[in-house]
Amino acid sequence: MTGLIVALDDPHIDRAEELAGHLAGSVSAFKVGLTLFTVAGPDAVRRIGRFGPVFCDLKLHDIPHQVGLAAEQLAKLGAWMFTVHASGGAAMMRAAVDAAGKSESSPTVSAVTVLTSLSRTDMADLGIDRSPAEQVGRLARLATQAGVGALVCSAQETELLRKQLGDEVVLVTPGIRPAGSAEGDQVRVVTPARAVEAGASYVVVGRPVTDADDPAAAAASIAEALAT
Ligand code: C5P
Repeated sequence: MTGLIVALDDPHIDRAEELAGHLAGSVSAFKVGLTLFTVAGPDAVRRIGRFGPVFCDLKLHDIPHQVGLAAEQLAKLGAWMFTVHASGGAAMMRAAVDAAGKSESSPTVSAVTVLTSLSRTDMADLGIDRSPAEQVGRLARLATQAGVGALVCSAQETELLRKQLGDEVVLVTPGIRPAGSAEGDQVRVVTPARAVEAGASYVVVGRPVTDADDPAAAAASIAEALAT
């Protein structure tokens, strides 16, 4: 069963907390990302954590020592899952995995492969002469070898990763857009129903819920699409 993670990307922590209160119990987890973290700091994780598990998406990308220390703090904060960039390399990912493993809460480390906002042209601009799917496959292999338990990718790549890595790995997929909703800055988008078919473990949905006139109804409709 594919779970729903709602991204609370709101510069107002009170508003994010209110929405978390409305959605508590009806979603798998809440995502605290750069917006909420820069506005409210670690307290954002504590406050949102009162309503459900927190996926702390800070996309750590630094030298292994620094990432290991930050991972230790995220574990202490009680994050359920947190992200590192796979392109930070194997030693950096291992530092995060080791720190998480030593902690009491033992959060899942999730490696971001290729951002869902990037296209093949963007990859070429970065000097990477591969399709997003090929690069996702390559980074996913590196991440799982480093002991990471979850991967962030587009649901356009989940079938490939299931073939490559099997059923055990947790696949977290942003870039989810119910039919007819605005893509915004996302490029490799997939509908909730298609993400389920393609083997996503979790979908991460932000604006289609947070910008809706009735966010609770929007989240319920996505949860229904995930269940059918
Ligand atoms: O509003 P939207 O549904 O596009 O939000 C998607 C969320 O997933 C954002 O909070 C973004 O930071 C996150 N994300 C992403 N692509 C990744 C990793 C995380 O869009 N590869």
